[in-house]
Amino acid sequence: MLGLKLPTDPRWVNIVEKNIEDILTDHAYCEQKAASTAISLIVSFPEYTDLVIEMTALVKEEMSHFKMVHDRIIKNGWTLGRDRKDDYVIKLVTFFPKGGSRTTQLVHRLLYAALIEARSCERFRLLSEALSDKELAEFYRKLMVSEANHYTMFLGFARQYGDRKEVDEKWQQLLEFEAQIMKDLGKKETIHG
Ligand SMILES: [Fe+2]
Ligand SMILES: [Fe+2]
Repeated sequence: MLGLKLPTDPRWVNIVEKNIEDILTDHAYCEQKAASTAISLIVSFPEYTDLVIEMTALVKEEMSHFKMVHDRIIKNGWTLGRDRKDDYVIKLVTFFPKGGSRTTQLVHRLLYAALIEARSCERFRLLSEALSDKELAEFYRKLMVSEANHYTMFLGFARQYGDRKEVDEKWQQLLEFEAQIMKDLGKKETIHG
């Protein structure tokens, strides 16, 4: 349903389980970056009223996710560590050429956001199904549902603002590119690593 071309190797969960502190730290920053992306879209594209309304709601939701993750970090007696660069996202956002019309730039940013949500959702599903800590598994099941909705929203906006046929073609190309990136990943205790 997410359209992803390459599923994550299930052994990724075994790597994560050995280092819950690292995955929670990385995850906290994923939520913070999702909120930052929503703010950035508001600032860059203020005339897209429907988008601004939804991004305003999304900032609050993503920061509430950040709080949920941060609260778990505190509960475990840990302190939030420093952010690390997300190689997956750095590579992904090189796919579309820079420039083009405002609408083109918006569509590209919406498609990147949709894909990051989709992959996050897939990773959360794996965690929800395979973590031996059942409480943490349930935590990830709830977040998986939220991120699936975000994926649908971003892809929907791309199709609303761009040319439907062109957007669908770009989406398929981006999915192929993402699958190539994922071939080298699934080996680290980060949400997209
Ligand atoms: Fe989130
Ligand atoms: Fe999200």
